[in-house]
Order: sequence, then C-alpha cells, then structure tokens
Amino acid sequence: MTQLAKLIDALNGTFGRHKGFRASHAKGLAVTGRFIPTVNAPSVDIPLLRSEQPISARFSVGGGKPNMSDKSPSVRGIGIAIGDKSDGWTMALISAPVFFANSAEQFVDFLAARKPDPEIGGPNPEKVKAFNAANPNTVPHQEYLKATAPCRCYSNENYHSGHAYGFAGPDGPLSARIFLEPEAGRIGLTEDEKSTYSDDFLFDTLLDKLDGGPARWTMKLVLANSGDVLDDPTTPWDGEHQEVTLGTIEITQIDENEAGQKRVYDPARMPAEVTAPQDNVFGLRSPAYAVSVARRNE
Ligand code: HEM
Repeated sequence: MTQLAKLIDALNGTFGRHKGFRASHAKGLAVTGRFIPTVNAPSVDIPLLRSEQPISARFSVGGGKPNMSDKSPSVRGIGIAIGDKSDGWTMALISAPVFFANSAEQFVDFLAARKPDPEIGGPNPEKVKAFNAANPNTVPHQEYLKATAPCRCYSNENYHSGHAYGFAGPDGPLSARIFLEPEAGRIGLTEDEKSTYSDDFLFDTLLDKLDGGPARWTMKLVLANSGDVLDDPTTPWDGEHQEVTLGTIEITQIDENEAGQKRVYDPARMPAEVTAPQDNVFGLRSPAYAVSVARRNE
C-alpha cells in the first residue's frame, strides 16, 4: 500500500490535491454508447465481443488539475467499460502510442522532475533535462506530444493501450497493443484555433459532433512482430504491423449524471480470454486507482 500511496502522492505533489477529483486525468466528461461487433468474425475470438454491448466511457485531459486547459500539450484519455456484467472489459487508453514510465520508481521520478518550481512558476527545465538524460526510454512519449497538436475534438483522437495484452490467435498465443482509430480521422488544432478557442472547447466540439450523429472508432489489435518489446509500455513498435479489427466503439451521448463522472475505469476488469499485460506498470494501476478513488472522497 505504501508504494501505491507514493504513486498518488507523486501525482498530488505535481498537480495538487483536489477534493472530489481524480489524481490523474482530473478533467473529463462522461459519455455513453455501444460496442458493435464486426460483420466478419475476427480471427481473435473474444465471446464478449460477439454481440452488441453497452458502453460507458469518459474522455479526459491528462494531468491532475481539474482546470487544465483543453489546449494543454498533455495526453488525452478515454476510460471505457464494454459490457455491464462481470465479464466485461474496462480499459483506460491514451492518445500517445506509448506511456511515460515503465516502473513505479520511474513514474514517481518523472513527476518529481516536473513539480512546479515556485521561483520559476512551472517545472524547472534543468531538472526535466537531467531526468530525460537519465531515462531515455521516457523520451518517445514526450517527443510524440511535442510533435502533435492537441486534438480538435475527442472524436478526432487516437487512443492506445501502450501495454501489450495476450490473446489466443488461430495459430497459438499472440500479443497485441490496443488501438482505437477514429472514423473521422485524427485532427489537431490549427495555430489559429489554438489562439481563438476557449480553454474548455472540448465539451462544445464533442456536443456539436454528437448533435450530428455518433462518434465512432474502429477497435483494433496491433499484433506484435517478433522483435517487438512486450514488457515495456514506453517502447514504440516501429514499422508495419498486422492488425485485427475487433469491432466498432460508438459514442452517442454525453452523460451528465454524477455517477458517470464518478465511475472508476479499473483496467484489471478483463474477459477471461484476455491475458493481462506482463510489464511492470499494468499491475500497479488497479490498486493505485483505488487509492485515488479513496482520496477523491476524503
Ligand atoms: C504506474 C502506472 C499508472 C498509474 C500510477 C496511474 C494512475 C492513475 C490514476 C491515479 C488515475 C485516476 C484514477 C481514479 O481516480 O479513477 C488514472 C486515470 C487514468 N489513467 Fe492512469 N496510471 C498509470 C498508468 C496508465 C497507463 C499505462 C495508461 C494508458 C496507457 C493510463 C491512462 C489513464 C486514463 C485514460 C485515466 C482516466 C480514466 C478515467 O477517465 O477515469 N494510466 N491513472
């Protein structure tokens, strides 16, 4: 428990502690929709995904401040629960293809290096530089965010697992990362939009989108090639990869009920046919989220 509390202390130390809010991805909005199976049965069979399923989800801006700007250069996230029974599947995915830490210690140190320096009024660039030099595996995540304009709408964002899950393939076990590919394409803010949009535009752009019809993503497995690193969510998988389409995620409406905002997206809830990622991060998440949930209510 102490190590898990340290993870939440690290988030609170950098972003502050905000009663009622998540320690990470504090700003967000809840939505509902459904999972639609593919017409052709996928080569990776997960019984839950053979039929239509209800979906609860929450889009978010990365970081632990409830008033983060929607233009901030952090990740965007989606927490998603497919199915409302115990055999359902819950995931929390981010817009960057890889995560920023591959261990509890690195997670804590990454945040400590970005703790606002009162004299500077933000992170101390020298500390960030020193952390990056000592932890080069964390750089691809940061480089991706630097090179990618914040999305114009949550419906125009990619969402990735970073973790590699295990599946039963037609010819034996296989490993894959999960990728939600937006039907409307990935669209970043233009410079003009960055200067004219409000700090809370993501609610309005999503509402506009849903007024015109659902937002959809193709839910894909990106299959690991033989050389890909499976036990480190910070390491990119470069080059061509085979993909398996599992179905469509369809979001139809914003859920303004309090229960939607409070829901916990615990990644440990998985169908029996899916094997948990074998890295040093996945196992920390469920118990760390529980600490955050307890603190939300303190
Ligand atoms: C050491 C590993 C990690 C820790 C300690 C951590 C911590 C947290 C915490 C404390 C929350 C808020 C939980 C709550 O109050 O409900 C959260 C939410 C979230 N995390 Fe993580 N996280 C980790 C890894 C990851 C990874 C690998 C991803 C995705 C690649 C991710 C994506 C998200 C998303 C999207 C949310 C928001 C979910 C929602 O809307 O409820 N996290 N994380």
